[in-house]
Amino acid sequence: MAKEIKNFKHLLGKLQGISDPQLEAHFGLYEGYVKKLNEVEEKLKQADRSQTNYSFGEYSELKRRLCVPYNGAYLHEMYFDNLMSQGEASQDFVSLINQSFGSLENWQADMKATGLAVPGWVVTCVENDTQKVTNFQLMEHHIGFPVNNTPIVVLDTWEHAFFLDYKANRGAYIDVFFKNLNWNAVNERVKKTLS
Ligand SMILES: [Fe+2]
Repeated sequence: MAKEIKNFKHLLGKLQGISDPQLEAHFGLYEGYVKKLNEVEEKLKQADRSQTNYSFGEYSELKRRLCVPYNGAYLHEMYFDNLMSQGEASQDFVSLINQSFGSLENWQADMKATGLAVPGWVVTCVENDTQKVTNFQLMEHHIGFPVNNTPIVVLDTWEHAFFLDYKANRGAYIDVFFKNLNWNAVNERVKKTLS
């Protein structure tokens, strides 16, 4: 079943410090990942499995890159979903963060430091069996994602997410990201993680 493109136009005009032209350019990139995911999945249906090979083969190359558009599509959806300032951090979120970071301020400072060092993604993840919380860096979309973890906050730190508004000032963009955090979306993820 082909993946459908989600519409995030409700964010236009609603974010602090992230302009509509910046958002619209970003929506276009996201749509490209959904289309490419569908294309790769279609091509995999046709490719000859018998020719798969470590060095090169159509089937093996499609498999090697599948996670790029897959994560590219879903990470963008999680990023847009956790934008537009709403609500406040739930007690469950605060407890989780306090156990691993001591305070929300420490978590935020760690997330910013993590993001300043990566053109890719920062994902706050909860370890499934221990509930340990870690800010992970993801290069491209698929390199560095930890198994046995569930993402609860997703920050896009590719230059395309902020360059129109902030040029190379990734730090200013990360600061404004926190001001736009949709706590209702984050709290819902935490609730599912703990259930
Ligand atoms: Fe992006």
